[in-house]
Amino acid sequence: MERKLVKVGLMGFGTVGTGVIRLIQGHQEDLFKQTGVSIEVAKILVRDKAKPRSIDGLDEQVTDKPDDLLQDPQIDVIVEVIGGIHPAKEYILAALEHGKHVVTANKDLMALHGAEILEKAQEKGCDVFYEASVAGGIPILRALVEGFSSDRITKMMGIVNGTTNYILTKMSEEGAAYADVLKEAQALGYAEADPTSDVEGFDAARKMAILSTLGFRVPLRLEDVEVKGISKVSREDIAYGKKLGYAVKLIGLAQRDGEEIEVSVQPTMVHKTHPLASVNGVFNAVYVHGEAVGETMFYGPGAGELPTATAVVSDLVTVVKNMKLGVNGRGMVAPYKEKVLKDDSNKLSRYFLRMIVTDKRGVLAQLTQLLAENNISLVQVLQQPYNAGAQAEIILVTHQAAKRDMDAVLAILADLDIIVEVKSCYRVEGEEE
Ligand code: NAP
Ligand code: HSE
Repeated sequence: MERKLVKVGLMGFGTVGTGVIRLIQGHQEDLFKQTGVSIEVAKILVRDKAKPRSIDGLDEQVTDKPDDLLQDPQIDVIVEVIGGIHPAKEYILAALEHGKHVVTANKDLMALHGAEILEKAQEKGCDVFYEASVAGGIPILRALVEGFSSDRITKMMGIVNGTTNYILTKMSEEGAAYADVLKEAQALGYAEADPTSDVEGFDAARKMAILSTLGFRVPLRLEDVEVKGISKVSREDIAYGKKLGYAVKLIGLAQRDGEEIEVSVQPTMVHKTHPLASVNGVFNAVYVHGEAVGETMFYGPGAGELPTATAVVSDLVTVVKNMKLGVNGRGMVAPYKEKVLKDDSNKLSRYFLRMIVTDKRGVLAQLTQLLAENNISLVQVLQQPYNAGAQAEIILVTHQAAKRDMDAVLAILADLDIIVEVKSCYRVEGEEE
């Protein structure tokens, strides 16, 4: 008999869980027309049953016992939106063990244990989808897996953390102080429970690990991603960047040259002519370059109740359609390319360097000689008095240089007597050489 109802076990009734219920309830008719079945949230797992909820009438469904969902044979799909690694991982593996399909928004879990979860899903003939784990409401994972299946991606650049983009935008547009805007981002619900994940780049790194695995079809691991956050970005860096035509953004970069790849997350000077430079506030965007298609960009809200829920419920619709076709677990393609990581001599970038120097004759010449000796040449130099003229502030923008050479220069500068302090060093993106 053809199925007319699919029952969902929802784990989590917080920001995303609430949005999932609202969308399923509010779009019931559209969902039915697209799938031919009614989707019902049969049980909802929470930590604290006594907590007030913003949707009424669900007391019967709410439980604090995971087995009420995992052991219920009527439940076909588990939607995991509790977050974190444990017990989310155990719940998902148990759900798959029981033959239930899984939809999750959990980037921490998928970045660290995605391979194990997907392997278990394959073994059990179940679907696991995780569109909401990267860039919230932007359907970027589906675009990478399906839309780019005929192409070879060479570069992805993402603003994939809304909290840090909100902080950098406010610092740039209003001259606001980092600590004040971070508090604001927390109050607005953008930040993770521990905002260190956001500001130190770990959240973006997890998302870039997921994007790179799918986009490059290689088994990339979280530890392959080089990470630097925004906690040391100063208002001065932002102001000088602006003066030279750049916006400071926390950029997740995934680049492929031949078969070699590099993946990093770091604050970057993005030239104002690049589309990522104008992605502001809590918005996310992912720029994807394919060998055949050229440049594309995906833009939208990276977090929030309803935007994130759209991605979760769309995954749910795909699971239900697969159930009707009897093809669950068959659409997954495991990474099939060998992972070859670039070494630092092959990681090429332009750099922005700001430093305070003693104001003596010949300092600039000494600096340019040091750079030249290390294969680095300059595009732009800005110098102005510092500390009432006792010292000078120098800003340099380089041509493309190897990371190995720039790191060598930074190590020498740290001990050079003419250098008072190297204030900052950023990669530069977006302007033609
Ligand atoms: P949240 O608001 O903190 O909600 C978490 C929910 O899970 C709460 O209902 C909580 O129960 C429940 N929960 C937590 N630990 C549990 C446990 N051990 N057992 C049972 N229930 C538990 O989190 P969220 O913002 O909705 O995020 C959920 C997931 O979506 C995370 O993986 C997050 O990274 C991801 N995500 C979130 C966003 C966003 O905009 N918020 C965007 C993209 C992805 P109580 O209500 O009883 O405390
Ligand atoms: N803390 C995350 C962000 C939430 O700011 O982007 C969405 O993953």
